[in-house]
Amino acid sequence: MRMLLAVLLFITLGSVGFLFWQYLTPDLDTGQILTENNCGVCHDLSPASQVKKGPPLWRVFERKAGTVKAFRYSTAFLQSVETHPFRWHERNLTAFIEDPNRFIPNTSMIQKQSRHELSFEGVTEDANRRDIVAYLKSLR
Ligand code: HEC
Repeated sequence: MRMLLAVLLFITLGSVGFLFWQYLTPDLDTGQILTENNCGVCHDLSPASQVKKGPPLWRVFERKAGTVKAFRYSTAFLQSVETHPFRWHERNLTAFIEDPNRFIPNTSMIQKQSRHELSFEGVTEDANRRDIVAYLKSLR
């Protein structure tokens, strides 16, 4: 009986540990799908670095915010990065895609010019943001 309990305890702890580990480790394949689906309509993710509705995200990690020459950023965005210049890292990317408007008030990432235009609502799930940011980091 004791042996059986020990085995059951071992299995339970093992599974909980495994699930926890899975929760903490970013999944790049999921990140790719999520990024293509949530960001790809407006952002080129390839080395071609084309301007779409938003600036290209190839090599965005560690890039200075607001510095893609060919892209016309909103006044709100430019003013914000002029006052507080920064480079894109895990923490600020995560905060930006959770709620762009809280991070840079009035950014055009969430604004629609017309009823049919695309807009971005923010990524609400922690795990999804983590996978997206891990994938963005790999775009180099
Ligand atoms: C509806 C179109 C749209 C979607 C969808 C969208 N974005 Fe954006 N994004 C923009 C626009 C437009 C800007 C420029 C914002 C400004 O100038 O205020 C921008 C800016 C950015 C920047 C700043 C880049 C720089 O050069 O400093 C990052 C990073 C970014 N987006 C990441 C993402 C990620 C990651 C996703 C998906 C989770 C996403 N965006 C989804 C339109 C979009």
